[in-house]
Amino acid sequence: MPPRLISQEGRQTHFVIWTLAVLCAILTIAVIVAGIAVFVVYMVYQPKMPYIRVAYAHLDELLYDQLGLLEIDITLNLEAVNDNNKAHTSFSALSFLLQFHDIDVAVLKSNSLEVPKNSSRPLNYHFHSSPIPLDQDAKEAMDKALRRGIVPFDLRGHAKTRWKVGIFVSVRFWTHISCRLHFFQTNGSTVESGCSTTSH
Ligand SMILES: *[C@@H]1O[C@H](CO)[C@@H](O)[C@H](O)[C@H]1NC(C)=O
Ligand SMILES: *[C@@H]1O[C@H](CO)[C@@H](O)[C@H](O)[C@H]1NC(C)=O
Repeated sequence: MPPRLISQEGRQTHFVIWTLAVLCAILTIAVIVAGIAVFVVYMVYQPKMPYIRVAYAHLDELLYDQLGLLEIDITLNLEAVNDNNKAHTSFSALSFLLQFHDIDVAVLKSNSLEVPKNSSRPLNYHFHSSPIPLDQDAKEAMDKALRRGIVPFDLRGHAKTRWKVGIFVSVRFWTHISCRLHFFQTNGSTVESGCSTTSH
């Protein structure tokens, strides 16, 4: 083998390696620049997580017979909140489940929702359930609740959300709600509120 040929092959390998190295360096710089841009946007705008909270809940009617059939009429006004002064947010795939003692009473859904900066949007539901048969445990729980005059329902739900600042759009993240609402049997108003979602 003439040594010239080897050295030419060597030069070619050299060229390929150098090209790859330069591309890698450019890529690395691009990633760093993008990271810095995201960090700067984050520091400047300090986006806060959008969330959903219960604005108002009212148990309009509760029918319960000794066969263990539960029927309710409920008003549930939720609110999608965006506390950001500069970031626009959107919510999608909203889904909420109202349960009594792990038995589904109502399923509430909504497609998507845009919430401009520093504002909130209502998600108002009025739900009338069909008669729902309670199992033995739930019947006992309902009897106990009615004796106390306070009926608890569990609200669980989730939504996807993200914020947007100019061309910067965050990834979608899930926000979850899980809380217990207590209603006075006499007038249907809630005992206490303060239920909102947590994000991760
Ligand atoms: C955001 O809303 C609050 C109360 O509604 C208001 O006082 C504040 O000025 C608003 N901020 C901006 C930047 O619009
Ligand atoms: C509902 O009834 C409870 C007790 O029965 C009472 O403490 C509460 O103030 C009433 N709420 C309203 C809005 O009338």
